[in-house]
Amino acid sequence: MKYLAAMLAVLALSGCQTPEPAPETAPAPQPARQAMPAPEPGDVNAGRAFAQKNCSTCHAVAATGASPYAPAPPLRTLHEKYDVEGLAEAFAEGILVGHKGPKQMPEFVLTPEEIDDLLAYLKSFE
Ligand code: HEC
Repeated sequence: MKYLAAMLAVLALSGCQTPEPAPETAPAPQPARQAMPAPEPGDVNAGRAFAQKNCSTCHAVAATGASPYAPAPPLRTLHEKYDVEGLAEAFAEGILVGHKGPKQMPEFVLTPEEIDDLLAYLKSFE
């Protein structure tokens, strides 16, 4: 505490050119994590949670059961119609599904991590 106060005083006196002293640059934890090739491309549980939160008002997100909003196909059936990997691009660019009906599917733009997780979840039904 005393040392810190002294240092701040010195910095203040010296005109404080560098507001952050940063004596040593520790390797940032995030790039290190990304550099490591993950054995799984995505986290199925995170993908399921994402779908639960964002899609389940219309789409069935579980392994069984009908969609709450009938025109929306259960997410477990998407892989039957689409190449799941191909959906990644649609999700990244913002999936937009135009259709007639009272409920429009909102436009979603997912982060790469959310896409990986969602795809892992969709693939779990294959
Ligand atoms: C407000 C309701 C609603 C929400 C929320 C919603 N959807 Fe949809 N979605 C629909 C409807 C309705 C359709 C069917 C559109 C049609 O074919 O006319 C659809 C279709 C789709 C399709 C195309 C299916 C096909 O067979 O062509 C995909 C893929 C899809 N949704 C993914 C998602 C994902 C992923 C989420 C969550 C991130 C989501 N949707 C959230 C209503 C919704």
